Amino acid sequence: MNVEFYEKVWMCAAVGLLVLFLGTIVLTAANDAVHPPSHVETVDPMALADNPEFGNPAVTVHTDGSVVVSVVTTMYSFSPDPIVVPASRPVTFRVTSADVLHGFQVVGTNANAMAIPGYVSQFTVTFKKPGEYIVGCNEYCGVMHHNMVGKLIVSKESE
Ligand code: CUA
Repeated sequence: MNVEFYEKVWMCAAVGLLVLFLGTIVLTAANDAVHPPSHVETVDPMALADNPEFGNPAVTVHTDGSVVVSVVTTMYSFSPDPIVVPASRPVTFRVTSADVLHGFQVVGTNANAMAIPGYVSQFTVTFKKPGEYIVGCNEYCGVMHHNMVGKLIVSKESE
């Protein structure tokens, strides 16, 4: 079978692009620990105020050193705000919504989840770099969606 030179070039380019795109997905998934959420837990969105965890959402440091952050999103804020967590330690976020669908994204990191009323989105991240991070809502949730911004402070490990 005779394949024209230019056809060969284009075939190689097409295969090359496929390998590049798939490789990018695999690499970022492995390197940045990007993965779909796999945690299913429900909570009554109408009774969050009486919920032992989400009634007063806060950062909890357990005796074994693990850090758990409970977050409630509402139009148009995050609670708690600011969220203060230690650097270089696994931090488990548990996020839910008291009203509509919101997003919870720590800008510049791979911490990103949907806040869905009735469900608890849980994920664990380790922030290596201390500093201030912006927490943004990345799901359109109403007219003031663009003002729904919070703050995450990653403090040095010793604290
Ligand atoms: Cu909350 Cu957009």
